[in-house]
Amino acid sequence: MAEQDIKYKFSSGFLWGTATSAHQIEGGNENNWTKWEKKGQIKDGSVSGRACNSYELYKEDIRLCKELNNNAYRFSLEWSRIEPEQGKFDKEALKHYQKVVECCRKNNIEPLVTLYHWTQPLWFAKLGGWLHKRSPLFFRNYAEAVAKQLGREVTFWCTINEPMIYSYNSYLKGKWPPQKKSYWQWKKALDNLIKAHKLSYFTLHSHNSKCKVSVAKNNQFFEPYVDSIFNKAVVKLITHYWNYYFLNKIKNELDYIGLNYYFHNLIYASLKGHVLMNENKIANDLGWEIYPKGIYEVLIGLKKYNLPIYILENGLADAKDEKRADFIKSHLRYIYQAIKDGTDVRGYCHWSLLDNFEWSEGYEPKFGLYRVNPKTFERTVRPSAKVYAEIAKNNGF
Ligand code: FCB
Repeated sequence: MAEQDIKYKFSSGFLWGTATSAHQIEGGNENNWTKWEKKGQIKDGSVSGRACNSYELYKEDIRLCKELNNNAYRFSLEWSRIEPEQGKFDKEALKHYQKVVECCRKNNIEPLVTLYHWTQPLWFAKLGGWLHKRSPLFFRNYAEAVAKQLGREVTFWCTINEPMIYSYNSYLKGKWPPQKKSYWQWKKALDNLIKAHKLSYFTLHSHNSKCKVSVAKNNQFFEPYVDSIFNKAVVKLITHYWNYYFLNKIKNELDYIGLNYYFHNLIYASLKGHVLMNENKIANDLGWEIYPKGIYEVLIGLKKYNLPIYILENGLADAKDEKRADFIKSHLRYIYQAIKDGTDVRGYCHWSLLDNFEWSEGYEPKFGLYRVNPKTFERTVRPSAKVYAEIAKNNGF
């Protein structure tokens, strides 16, 4: 593409990547989620099983990142592999992740490493998971073992993926393991996640003072359905709690903001509660509305923190790959606009590199730029991946 044809040009050094998580792609894990899956909890009846076999095929995955002309890859470490028994750290597992990081580096790909993407070692779950008083300390010990092995080689850390989504579904809504449905347990889990982030922040920094630590925060664009003072006040409250509560609590232990954007919610609030009134003009295969302008709004909302922002997830389930290329471009246009309007966005990771195991939905939703054959694990490129590769190559479009 000729330089003059690029309308949306991103700054040099902008990170272009994709995101995955250990449990969703590695295969062969044994943690609280696999235990739960076996109880027939997954919508399509599947279990994560061998997933994409990425624990073995990580080099192939990184080759695909290269094929996408990407210079970043976000992945997570599986706590249950690294610390299968409390206080006993598996050297082989740690070495494995070191090899993944080295492979990224060899390919000029910045590894963005997540410590906790929702799955727990069995011993941790048995002790009560995030409801245990000492859970933040347990997490810190894990972070310490990881930092000892990888601390010098990793710059970007994400301690916890989507603490609000995760704690809400696992401790309030009763949807994900451990399927609790209690406001007080939710608060407790959330408090412990906050403490876990803070403790591991200092641990990671003590091994590499130059590292950059954050969380991946799922922020949503909430809008009032009607223009009443009441409806607007409710939306303000929800926005405050959902988008900023966690970040405000950890704002002194944040080097950048990791943002995951998926949702726009048009809220109609009454004294009976609130309901969603989304128009859903365009939706993904899971029925989630596609609303690119929302990414602009949430980015502008993050300006007040005065920190660099990396988008750590944004994507859609689209088995036919009919909407993905437009989805990427339309979101990037709004990201570009948010940069023009003063937000310091420095990277974009698309969810996901591969079709993978979706938490309670199973293998039905297809989020990948690459399709994965569940028997042979062969990866095949979707057309939208080529569009994304062009964008990354030209640093714009
Ligand atoms: C996000 C999760 C990620 C993936 C996408 C679709 O909330 O962080 O693991 O499941 O949704």
